[in-house]
Amino acid sequence: MADKRISLITGGSGALGSAICLALAREGNDIAFTFHRRKAEADALADRIRNMGRRVLAGAADARSPEAVEAFCRRAEEHFGRVDVLVNNIGMIQAVPFALLEPEDWDRLMAVNLKSMFLFSKALLRGMVRRRRGVILNIGSIGGHRMLDVPVHYAASKAAVTGFTLSLAREVARYGIRVSEICPGLIDEGIGGNVPPRQMAEYSRYCAAGRPGRPGEVAEAVAFMASDRAAYINAQKIIVDGGL
Ligand SMILES: NC(=O)c1ccc[n+]([C@@H]2O[C@H](COP(=O)([O-])OP(=O)(O)OC[C@H]3O[C@@H](n4cnc5c(N)ncnc54)[C@H](OP(=O)(O)O)[C@@H]3O)[C@@H](O)[C@H]2O)c1
Repeated sequence: MADKRISLITGGSGALGSAICLALAREGNDIAFTFHRRKAEADALADRIRNMGRRVLAGAADARSPEAVEAFCRRAEEHFGRVDVLVNNIGMIQAVPFALLEPEDWDRLMAVNLKSMFLFSKALLRGMVRRRRGVILNIGSIGGHRMLDVPVHYAASKAAVTGFTLSLAREVARYGIRVSEICPGLIDEGIGGNVPPRQMAEYSRYCAAGRPGRPGEVAEAVAFMASDRAAYINAQKIIVDGGL
C-alpha cells in the first residue's frame, strides 16, 4: 500500500477515537472521522489534524442509521478518492444490572457497538475489494473476554467483535484486505474514565503494569496494525491491557 493512506475512524470525538486519529495523522495518514453529539471536540480535533499538515473530513453520523453511515462513507470516498483503513471504534456502555436490563437497552447498545461495525465495514469494503487492498481494525474490549465487572450487554457486544473479526478476515483475505481486533483493557479516559474508583483500583492491583492504560497506548497499536509494518499479521486480537 502506498505510504499516503486515507483512514476513516468512527467515533473520533471520543477519548480513544481522537487519540487514534492523531496517531494515524502522525504516521502520514489523511483522516476522515465521525462524531455523534460532541461537535466542539470534533472541530478541535479537525484543527489539530489540519495543523499537522494532513487533510481531514469530519462528519456527524448516528451509527444506528444505515443511511447516515452510508452517506458519510460515500462522502469520504468522494472527498479523498478512496478509503484504505477503517477503524471501527464507536462504542457506548450503560451501567445497569442484568435484572434491570430492558430489551430496548440491549438493542440500542448492540446497534451502537456491533451493528455499526457491520454498517461501516460493508459500506467501505466495496471500494477495498475493488482496489484489492485495505485494512479494517475493530475496537473490542477485554470486558468481552474475562470475568470482569462489566454490564452483560456490553460484554456480549464486545465478545461478538472477535467472531465478526475472524469471519470477515477469512472472507476478505483473498482481496488483500486484513481485518484484526484491538482489544483494550481499562483505559483512564472515555468509557473507562467513568468507572468507580474502587473498580479502577482493583484493575490496577491485578494488572501487571499497576495502572489503567492511556488512549495513546491503544492508538499506537492501531497505528502499527494499520501500517504495512503489520502486513503479515491478520485476523488477530491485539490485547492492550497492561498484562492481566
Ligand atoms: N475507555 C475504555 O476503558 C475502553 C476499554 C475497552 C474498550 N473501549 C472501547 O473503545 C471505544 C471508544 O471508547 P471511548 O472510551 O473512547 O469512549 P468515548 O470517549 O465515550 O467515545 C465514544 C465514541 O463513540 C461515539 N458514539 C457513541 N454513540 C454513538 C452513536 N449512536 N452514533 C455514532 N457515534 C456514537 C461518540 O460520539 P460523540 O461523543 O460525538 O457523541 C464517541 O466519539 C469503544 O468501542 C469502547 O467500547 C474503551
